[in-house]
Amino acid sequence: MSTEETPAVKTYPVAPRLQATPTPHIGPDLDAYRAAHKGSVGEGSDEWWGEKARELLYWDRPFKTIRSGGFATGDIAWFPEGGLNVSYNAVDRWAFEDPDRIAIIYEADEPDGGCSITYGELLRQVSSLANVLSTTFGVRPGDTVSIYLPTTWHAAVALLACARIGAIHSVVFAGFSAEALRDRINDCQSRVLITCDEGRRGGKAIATKAIADAALEACHGIVEHVLVLKRTGGKINWTEGRDRWWDEEMAKVPKYCPPRVMSAEDPLFILYTSGSTGKPKGVVHTSGGYALCAALTVKYVFDVHKGDRFACMADVGWITGHTYIVYGPLLNGVTTLMFESTPVYPTPARYWEVVAKHKLTQFYNSPTAIRLLRRLGAHHVEPHDLSSLRVLGSVGEPINPEAWEWYHEHAGRGQCAIVDTFWQTETGSIVLTPFPGAVPTKPGSATVAFFGHEPVILDAMSGTPLEGNNVEGVLALGTPWPSIARTIWRDHARYLDTYMKPYPGLFYTGDGAARDEDGYIWIKGRVDDVINVSGHRLSTAEIESALIMHKGVAETAVIGTADELTGQAVYSFVTLKPEFSYDSGNEAGLVKELVLQVRKVIGPFAAPKKIYIVPDLPKTRSGKIMRRIMRKIVAGEGDQLGDLSTIAEPSTVDAIKQKVAEGNA
Ligand code: WT7
Repeated sequence: MSTEETPAVKTYPVAPRLQATPTPHIGPDLDAYRAAHKGSVGEGSDEWWGEKARELLYWDRPFKTIRSGGFATGDIAWFPEGGLNVSYNAVDRWAFEDPDRIAIIYEADEPDGGCSITYGELLRQVSSLANVLSTTFGVRPGDTVSIYLPTTWHAAVALLACARIGAIHSVVFAGFSAEALRDRINDCQSRVLITCDEGRRGGKAIATKAIADAALEACHGIVEHVLVLKRTGGKINWTEGRDRWWDEEMAKVPKYCPPRVMSAEDPLFILYTSGSTGKPKGVVHTSGGYALCAALTVKYVFDVHKGDRFACMADVGWITGHTYIVYGPLLNGVTTLMFESTPVYPTPARYWEVVAKHKLTQFYNSPTAIRLLRRLGAHHVEPHDLSSLRVLGSVGEPINPEAWEWYHEHAGRGQCAIVDTFWQTETGSIVLTPFPGAVPTKPGSATVAFFGHEPVILDAMSGTPLEGNNVEGVLALGTPWPSIARTIWRDHARYLDTYMKPYPGLFYTGDGAARDEDGYIWIKGRVDDVINVSGHRLSTAEIESALIMHKGVAETAVIGTADELTGQAVYSFVTLKPEFSYDSGNEAGLVKELVLQVRKVIGPFAAPKKIYIVPDLPKTRSGKIMRRIMRKIVAGEGDQLGDLSTIAEPSTVDAIKQKVAEGNA
């Protein structure tokens, strides 16, 4: 019998500010949640979804069918006869109702550099850009447009302008390198790129246009037009005939553009994400189903009411930015905040100054940022008036209970609900979450299913569903929901292989999960070769193939290891080609080169924290690299390596142990 005691898990009742006005959409308790959720799944749920789709969105052409197809056949469709325009739904509806309502608060990198955009102005901006794209550049419905911009309000305009004319946007996070941008443009064959002269983050300039220029050099002339936003006025190179200034082109076109009615199943955007191979996947989201879930989750997970000021502190280049900065809040007609800076610029009080300045009502953020601010001290939070807040969100990685408690106590002052929201680029919107007015929370648990979801925990080996409570396995989702990705761009087979085939009849998430004694779900992290650093998804294979491009590298193994601040950190083991000669006294120099290599091929955020040059990698007799051994050694469990009988060359293990020990010394 184990003498170890599991620490009691604290449960927090529905937060005080969710028991006051406005009355939460779902409340006051778990029974209310269960009753509401019941309508959204199983028999009779078609009616429920039809009603929500009509309530939350305006349809130019009504749908007849609610849903068709399924996981196994890979032909999922929602509201297939329906026609709508997502930009009309996100902008025009509110611009006509109340043109002076603030749509976007832009909080620039410089604390005094921001501005606000009303819904009336947003409609003019989106329309103008839609006209530039279609009339000036000849973009047609179904064409792709690549966007490489920082989180300024112009980025939201760019997404919505594409949606207005039925073009498919492909946003590439502005922290990606030229090579990563090149690959993402080539894959979706965009003829148009929207970018800016320079970015600014944490007071530093980023050479955005120069990176884009380098990417385009390798794109074999696919990109005919580059629209350049003047963000800083810094000096840039200019390609006559290809490059045009945003402001100049906008001034030449009419300020209204009629929205084009799209089919519910027409793609709205592609967003590239890392999988378990070296090649990123272009995840495809649709117009109707995606828009519905974006709107629905903002309304219910964050308990948004008219007049709220919603802030998601993500970058617009990730799915969180798409769904919870741009589409979700605007589809609800509330005010959304776009934050271009970092949590610590110019000081670690920046977030709280922003909350107080704009009287924000919801604040959605990553565990990494919370852990960082916790470490820097509560004295940065305390002086600020945060009494406008009702719901605090967390997303991207498991949040450890200590960070949760700190967030609750210092940002929430014990008064706010904390929603730990689990979802993925592929799910398009939140899957597991507390409903803030109804579900008591436990620090570290994403708790219960959102509407339309039936999560299943499976035994990983046999694929058998683990019924009941107190079970742990891998997480799958039981029924198609409207915002599930429909395909991987030009690679439907990979879509089926990755998500549908591992456990037939279910959608496979790639995450480990447990269900506790109360039926609450706890996400345990990825069980595949995906690493999660600060909520940024990286694949071990992608980093490995970046390293292998270095002339001296023979083999590499990349692993994710627990990190106090970033959740996970990238560690890599590298062997060198015998013919590669280098000054072994200057190993640090080589390691630096290798780090630069990863920054160049993927981007700075993927840079390994540690690189170990080793004589050999542990492999099975059939030549498979045994990453599990390296994971254990790095985690300090080198004396518990378990069964090593399959290893071809046991001496490799000692060499690695020694190297890691030296590195830690
Ligand atoms: C992976 C998806 C969803 C937007 C940001 C990341 C992890 C996400 C949580 C959470 C524990 C989480 C999972 C998931 N993840 N949210 N609340 N608790 N883990 O999107 O890049 O598609 O990554 O992020 O491992 O599979 P993504």
